[in-house]
Amino acid sequence: MFDVLSPMPADPILSISVAAAADPRTDKIDLGVGIYKDEAGHTPVMRAVKAAEFAYAGLEETKKYVSTTGLEAYNSALLSLILGDMDLSRFATAQSAGGSGALRLGAELIKRSSEGAQIYVPTPTWGNHTPLLGSAGIEMKKYPYYDREALDVDFDAMRAFLNATPKAGDVIILHGCCHNPTGADLSNAQWDEVSDILTARGLIAYVDLAYMGLGDGLEEDCYGIRKLAVTQEEMLIAASCSKNFGLYRDRTGLIAVKTKTADQAKVAKSHLGLIMRRMISMPPNHGAAVVAHILNTPELRADWIAELNEMRERMNGLRRSLAYGLDVQGHEEMGAALARQKGMFSMLPVTPEQAAKLRDEHSVYLLNSGRINIAGAAQDDIERLSKAILSVF
Ligand SMILES: Cc1ncc(COP(=O)(O)O)c(C=O)c1O
Repeated sequence: MFDVLSPMPADPILSISVAAAADPRTDKIDLGVGIYKDEAGHTPVMRAVKAAEFAYAGLEETKKYVSTTGLEAYNSALLSLILGDMDLSRFATAQSAGGSGALRLGAELIKRSSEGAQIYVPTPTWGNHTPLLGSAGIEMKKYPYYDREALDVDFDAMRAFLNATPKAGDVIILHGCCHNPTGADLSNAQWDEVSDILTARGLIAYVDLAYMGLGDGLEEDCYGIRKLAVTQEEMLIAASCSKNFGLYRDRTGLIAVKTKTADQAKVAKSHLGLIMRRMISMPPNHGAAVVAHILNTPELRADWIAELNEMRERMNGLRRSLAYGLDVQGHEEMGAALARQKGMFSMLPVTPEQAAKLRDEHSVYLLNSGRINIAGAAQDDIERLSKAILSVF
């Protein structure tokens, strides 16, 4: 039966990291895959996570299943962290296997609720959005988002498109903060405008929040999502704890769906539970139990926030240094864009050939699209990195 299968191409993001790992050059700089790294190139277990894991190991009395929608202490603590002090009774939640699992659960719920709805993703977007969401059997479309010349959000094009093209009931994927792959985020005023457009046109916001706390700060990064949570009758949120809690392999995420009434939220939750049951039956527990313990223990919560701030500040320091390096060598616009962009990613205006040259001749690993993960560098790399980047222009 399986002899009919032909080999699938390797994931383009993951294969860059595989190539970097295999490169024997000692001065290589791996800016490929989207994981946080410290100055030593290590992806640490966060202090509060380690402490919560020790505490939880002592507290845990059973390994029996939790439920199809997961741990309620986690669902409500994480949603409250995201949305702040607001009434959550109209939100249906379910714990998921990472942000990816959340995105897929939401797509399956959309499919059940509205057969003809299409999902629009920004151009460009995270490479897995279209396959992951589209696999629910939904037609995937694109909207304009980034201007590769201006190295910034093309808000005029985005506004014009959203005002004209999607039909009422279509779903718009918005990156909550730290847009992947460009690092170019909407300003607060632009979020306000998007909110008005969605309301006026009956479009449904689906916010992907995978980098909360890694842009400007925990509160600041939630401006857009909180705005929509107030203004929109219905919306979806897919949150990931992979980056901001460093729980990548523990697969910790959350889907939250705002419905028109609290009763409808209960119905939506029953569907999320059923979808989960049919996909993987129950979500993984460990990461969610750790996050719930951290968020509900004041000292651990404070230490988690402190370390998250350290991570963000390290990345912002690298951004500033690289921006300066490019700026003083005559590439002010690229430098300014790097300084302006948020989170782990920026998109260098390089061609795939220039990206290959950076990899082959300078052992600087980035995606062919030009996406770099700034956290892949150390301060000591910055001078070499900026020179290498400029040498391919
Ligand atoms: C924009 C975006 N959404 C979702 C995810 C999925 O994260 P997770 O590893 O939690 O599934 C990622 C991961 O890179 C991402 O960049």
